[in-house]
Amino acid sequence: MPANGRPVAITANDTMKFSVTEIHAKPGEVLSVTLTNVGTTPKFSMGHNWILLQPDTDLLAFVTAGSTAAATDYKPASLQSKIIASTKLLGPGEHDTATFAAPSKPGSYPFLCSFPGHFQVGMRGMLIVD
Ligand code: CO
Repeated sequence: MPANGRPVAITANDTMKFSVTEIHAKPGEVLSVTLTNVGTTPKFSMGHNWILLQPDTDLLAFVTAGSTAAATDYKPASLQSKIIASTKLLGPGEHDTATFAAPSKPGSYPFLCSFPGHFQVGMRGMLIVD
């Protein structure tokens, strides 16, 4: 896999929204998704991550399990197999890039921020492989 894929830049701020909520990719296309936290609120109360999940994931169950997994950036170990790609948890001014191959199977793959409460207020989107 190439070290760098097609760049996709996403920002997140203190309003708990992703700047990009829909990404399109070709099957197997390598993407480099960079999430930047442009907010100002401290990480412990307003961290953000970007997690791409398998389409059959129960999203509410994922974030519920993740809400007590602060030590692993709110990624629940019990549902690790559902994660296709992810960034680390970011505080204000921080960024991280996830480089991965889009799934080979066309379909809609959900992404979200698993910081407690953020998914529930809309911090989510979709990678569409077509
Ligand atoms: Co968030």
